[in-house]
Amino acid sequence: MTYKPVENRYNQIKYNRCGESGLLLPAISLGLWHNFGEVDSFDTARDMILKAFDLGITHFDLANNYGPPPGSAEKTFGKILKADLSAYRDEIIVSTKAGYLMWPGPYGDWGSKKHLIASLDQSLKRMGLDYVDIFYSHRPDGETPLEETMGALDQAVRQGKALYAGISSYTPEQTADAAKILKRLGTPCLIHQQKYSMLYRNCENGLLETLGKEGIGCIVFCPLAQGLLTDRYLNGIPENSRAAKPQSFLKREQITEELLKKIRALNTIAAKREQSLAQMALAWVLRDSRVTTALIGASKIEQLEQNIATLKNTKFTTDELKQIDKILEQG
Ligand SMILES: NC(=O)c1ccc[n+]([C@@H]2O[C@H](COP(=O)([O-])OP(=O)(O)OC[C@H]3O[C@@H](n4cnc5c(N)ncnc54)[C@H](OP(=O)(O)O)[C@@H]3O)[C@@H](O)[C@H]2O)c1
Repeated sequence: MTYKPVENRYNQIKYNRCGESGLLLPAISLGLWHNFGEVDSFDTARDMILKAFDLGITHFDLANNYGPPPGSAEKTFGKILKADLSAYRDEIIVSTKAGYLMWPGPYGDWGSKKHLIASLDQSLKRMGLDYVDIFYSHRPDGETPLEETMGALDQAVRQGKALYAGISSYTPEQTADAAKILKRLGTPCLIHQQKYSMLYRNCENGLLETLGKEGIGCIVFCPLAQGLLTDRYLNGIPENSRAAKPQSFLKREQITEELLKKIRALNTIAAKREQSLAQMALAWVLRDSRVTTALIGASKIEQLEQNIATLKNTKFTTDELKQIDKILEQG
């Protein structure tokens, strides 16, 4: 059936400025790391992308290696873009990345110009796009000069294959160095992508300060800790959940009784706020004004709907924040 987006799609979500750039990103963005590979249902993937767009989610995040198999999430997304969203390309921000293992040999991984430029060309082909909006160095590479990796991002932008440059999982010091090089090259660093959630607070070790100082936007990934910060695992491991899937990055053994104790306590606070735990976890990362957008994953339309409804209440009292910290600090 021909897809027609809902007309009020831009009234449901907040759009935040990405650092000091001209780009606005939705407070919640959708990533295609899981659930969009060749192994997953294409119909469900399509339904989720179109529902996300209807909910005002304009930003879709990919990487060369998302699948499985690697590359297949970009193919799935390209198919949906072509069939349903080609008329709306200018309303959509697509990002992709290179820097993790993608093909055999010395050029299929890490941060060389050879890897980044070749990988971006492959990604564009898989998605059937002329350009992506954001191209990332997916991780720092201690053995490639930072000038070379940043030079590759700058080249991609100059060639018109990407509109903006981004980096992911760089330390605060590496971020400051990368920002300096990119500024000098004339392609400012738009955005930094970093894991951040109530369960993983690395971002607070100076990165947010650096991003604020440099005027770089912050997109935080795994804000739900891959589903741990939701009601998904409160009563065991459901069959269709990420932790139950063989190729997933969330392992059954990570769901310990000690962790569940914390999750249950957090769930109680969320209930008092009249939110689900997922909603409170998203509100928690968005409480910091330097965080531009929370980059979620989803396996069902209902999860997207619930997560967008978070934006009705993203404020915390000092007491709530203290209670959350206390739960998280418990050994
Ligand atoms: N730059 C990097 O190195 C990097 C690394 C990792 C991820 N990322 C990006 O970040 C994106 C998000 O990562 P993520 O998928 O791990 O994020 P996440 O939002 O922490 O976890 C998503 C999972 O949580 C569960 N979920 C979501 N909403 C829910 C709700 N309302 N109630 C119950 N469960 C809910 C679903 O699990 P079930 O599938 O079990 O239903 C879903 O698959 C990725 O797609 C990717 O774009 C980037």
